[in-house]
Amino acid sequence: MKKLKADFHIHTADDPYDRIRYSSRQLIERAQHRGYDVLAITNHNAVTYNAELVEYAHQHGILLIPGVEATIERKHVLLFNIDYSKERINTFADLRKAKTEDSLVIAPHPYFPSPLALQGKLKENLDLFDAIEYCHFYFSWLNFNKRGVQLAHLYDIPLIGTSDAHFWWQFHTTYSLIEGEKTISGVIQAIKQGMVTVVSSPLSIFTLWKMGMKLPLHLMADLIAYSGILGSRWAEIKARKYNKL
Ligand SMILES: [Fe+2]
Repeated sequence: MKKLKADFHIHTADDPYDRIRYSSRQLIERAQHRGYDVLAITNHNAVTYNAELVEYAHQHGILLIPGVEATIERKHVLLFNIDYSKERINTFADLRKAKTEDSLVIAPHPYFPSPLALQGKLKENLDLFDAIEYCHFYFSWLNFNKRGVQLAHLYDIPLIGTSDAHFWWQFHTTYSLIEGEKTISGVIQAIKQGMVTVVSSPLSIFTLWKMGMKLPLHLMADLIAYSGILGSRWAEIKARKYNKL
């Protein structure tokens, strides 16, 4: 059986919380060029999944899985194939009720130095989690995935490689290969059975340097565009670039 190339943690311009510079359709197009078979768009507290997008992905040879990066008790949790609404799933107890055999829950970057990372909440609610993320953002000399890997090995929980892409450069840095049928339930069940391989390599110092150079420029460009300093024409150009017009 062909291994399915997959990424289960990606943000797009539909994200209501972060400003992302590529649309969901652009992501699908790029993923096809990179040979992906399965994608889940996981915007913050919003499910980006509809018949039109599913069909667009299908035309590009990609299975789209409904996903969301939900904030639960002020921590980030990746939910897939769950009937999600921010109002309905607010606590881990809510999630316990909403989760079904057909749904999947992944712990994203659980021990990264962020107030939104699960930290101790992961171990407290371990029964809820089907997999632990191996996040792209690490270096050979600094890797916050290590504690998650230890926990995964200790409790025999699958690891899953993702990009958590907010920028193009992050996409395709880390991904997963799934040995399963190319259907939503086939992929989810394969992950639950541990039929997944993480493909990843540490980021280079050069990447860190590029990030350092680009991030202030992006922030300044956004500030100019949305403060109207250069007038509405500039804002229009930016918006068009982001596929918001
Ligand atoms: Fe994320």
